[in-house]
Amino acid sequence: MTSPSLVRPDSVGRFRHRHLLGIEGLSPDEITLLLDLSDAYVEQNRAPEKKGSLLRGRTVINLFFENSTRTRTSFELAGKRLGGDVINMSAEASSVKKGETLIDTAMALNAMLADVLVVRHPDSGAVKLLSEKVNCAVINGGDGTHEHPTQALLDALAIRRRKGRLQGLTVAICGDILHSRVARSNIHLLNAMGARVRVIAPPTLMPAAVDRLGVEAFHDMKAGLKDCDIVMMLRLQTERMQGNFVPSVREYFHFYGLDYEKLACAKPDALIMHPGPMNRGVEIDSEVADDIDRSLIREQVEMGVAVRMACLDVLTRMAVVNAPWAPA
Ligand code: CP
Repeated sequence: MTSPSLVRPDSVGRFRHRHLLGIEGLSPDEITLLLDLSDAYVEQNRAPEKKGSLLRGRTVINLFFENSTRTRTSFELAGKRLGGDVINMSAEASSVKKGETLIDTAMALNAMLADVLVVRHPDSGAVKLLSEKVNCAVINGGDGTHEHPTQALLDALAIRRRKGRLQGLTVAICGDILHSRVARSNIHLLNAMGARVRVIAPPTLMPAAVDRLGVEAFHDMKAGLKDCDIVMMLRLQTERMQGNFVPSVREYFHFYGLDYEKLACAKPDALIMHPGPMNRGVEIDSEVADDIDRSLIREQVEMGVAVRMACLDVLTRMAVVNAPWAPA
């Protein structure tokens, strides 16, 4: 299969960024372009022959300073399905352990003429800083509590495919909003696409002045879930917490864990989402998570590969548009 890009040559001009560092700053048209292209890659991925050649000769490096299952693996699959060479680097096994800085590490990879760096880092802003030092395209695979743009894109794709639209839907994002880059990216994307966003969290896990992000805030889960179309659950991000933010896991589940009793407050056809990894019995009841009629969690993971193929496709095309030899 030669698999030319599923982007029409004229449509790449609709995407105006060299890097994908966040959803904030993307226009509704750019988000729609990425979602439409992802839809086409979902179909390609469901065909028996999945491999194309769009990225033949291109190198994608996954540079992960934090653990990951879904993001790292799906970027690897995405790069390989597009015919590229993919290298995985974890900070644990790199010269970072010998004291090398983030920037020096990135400069070394840049000098090897990588075409795309996919970077996950525990510090907010680290991926943007790195993008300013290299010549290749950089994709944010999650930076601190800031953004996780490909997660929001895959969530939007999963919702759009099931509900047929994003505009006008009411989406409740529930749990540890304070530490969640997934929440931030989803809030930006859903607002841009005309959805109504609610956030539900205990006071200790709700960011100050959260309403400035264009959301409605609730501390009572049943009130927040009333008549929602989508219920998006988040994990307690204990790795980013210093001190105790909840009295106990048992109490947290009682007030904020999604079970059928609380879910009954949402619309009867409301769908359940979770970016993973899940902590069953903490933020979500196991039976609810596995409910094949209501849960989108498996589909979210599937959409992740297609969305990352779309991002690699568009950004490598943008690199050609921006190249020194490109016609003015
Ligand atoms: N949702 C998400 O980013 O999962 P991973 O940490 O497994 O990549």
